[in-house]
Amino acid sequence: MRRPVIRTPLPGPIAAGLIERDRRAMSPSFTRSYPFVMDHGEGCWITDVDGNTFLDFTAGIAVCATGHAHPQVVAAVTEQARRFLHMSGTDFYYRVEIELAERLAGLVFPGTPARVFFTNSGAEAVEGAMKLVRYATGRPNFLAFIGAFHGRTMGALSLTASKASQRRRFAPLLPSVYHVPYPSPARGVSTDDSMGAIEELFATVMPPESVAAAFVEPIQGEGGYLVPPEDFLPRLRQLTAANGILLVTDEVQSGMGRTGRLMAAEHWGVQPDVVCLAKGIASGLPLGAFVARAEVMSWDPGSHGSTFGGNPVACAAALATLDLLQEGLMENAATVGSHLLEGLRRIASGHPDLVRDARGVGLMAAIELDTPEHAVEVVQECFRNGLLLLTAGRRAVRLCPPLVVTEAEADLGLEILAAAVTRCSTSRPVAAAPR
Ligand SMILES: Cc1ncc(COP(=O)(O)O)c(C=O)c1O
Repeated sequence: MRRPVIRTPLPGPIAAGLIERDRRAMSPSFTRSYPFVMDHGEGCWITDVDGNTFLDFTAGIAVCATGHAHPQVVAAVTEQARRFLHMSGTDFYYRVEIELAERLAGLVFPGTPARVFFTNSGAEAVEGAMKLVRYATGRPNFLAFIGAFHGRTMGALSLTASKASQRRRFAPLLPSVYHVPYPSPARGVSTDDSMGAIEELFATVMPPESVAAAFVEPIQGEGGYLVPPEDFLPRLRQLTAANGILLVTDEVQSGMGRTGRLMAAEHWGVQPDVVCLAKGIASGLPLGAFVARAEVMSWDPGSHGSTFGGNPVACAAALATLDLLQEGLMENAATVGSHLLEGLRRIASGHPDLVRDARGVGLMAAIELDTPEHAVEVVQECFRNGLLLLTAGRRAVRLCPPLVVTEAEADLGLEILAAAVTRCSTSRPVAAAPR
């Protein structure tokens, strides 16, 4: 069994040089939590520029669904790159984009006519969906949830309510967005609390007939990998349908097989009106999409477009990704995901003072620490020992490995994580909180 190999101090000399250059040349707005400088990767394993090898349980923020540089994806990309790199779908037609749209529409809305708009990112998918629901309903307002992350462009940022640092000094945002608490046992918020808050908005500042859509993450991602109570999505579906409000699920992080189903909302049997996708859709090539029932996506020519959205190389990668998901990776996400969650629960029960919760669906899993500082310390200790993790929300440590992860690799990740938690519980050092 392969194990991480750390052969230099971290960062190593080459990484340190590149980080210094990055500091001078790149925007300082990013939030790198440790000095990992990528050189190459394969499956769940990545090697930095100094030859140190790590187990990657971040997948580039839940993106590399099929693992790093999957040969089938690389072959599809190479083949498409030889044919042509670009021919904007806004003005022209090409086969890979049409094929991908047909496949996604059929899988996301089985048995229902549906249409797809391709974008370059998650934020752009959300932004486009915001325009679409206004266009389709003629209504101005949006409903969203505290803790939500929908992206950083002005419209999407108006829905985002995850961390103050993401919104600070960017006002005024859209005035027509109303937030209510997202239900989560880990936060002590019930579905009744959330539904009550929506009803109160309906009765006061946001009459239901003014609401175009509710935007919701079926499992809240950046907010902390929060899994809602069983009845939440079905009740939200019911309430929105009863008021002519469209339901938009943001599956940018939870979708594309990560939870063991193609869409996370399938776990609760909920069919939305619009679905936003990105991240895992093309195994790392920049692609996003919003998919809607055909009668919702029936806007006029000229109403929306994109030069790069639906890039043919990204579409080819997405078709290869869908093949791999359907040939076994989604199933793997479900089985290895339950194994991983059992292990996280064992870690939590062994350290009840430090680890307050273990939760997740499939390969979207997390533990919640008692303080933000301890979450950061656990992530940094794992990095020093060859496991890449990220925090989520204020105090959670998320595990979102590539969907090719094996049970043995999950065990290895759990072993490194458990040792980091034990070390944290004995030393209790204080690190900087995430911004
Ligand atoms: C649920 C969700 N929606 C939207 C986005 C924005 O995606 P992008 O960073 O590709 O713009 C993210 C990114 O983390 C996300 O998790």
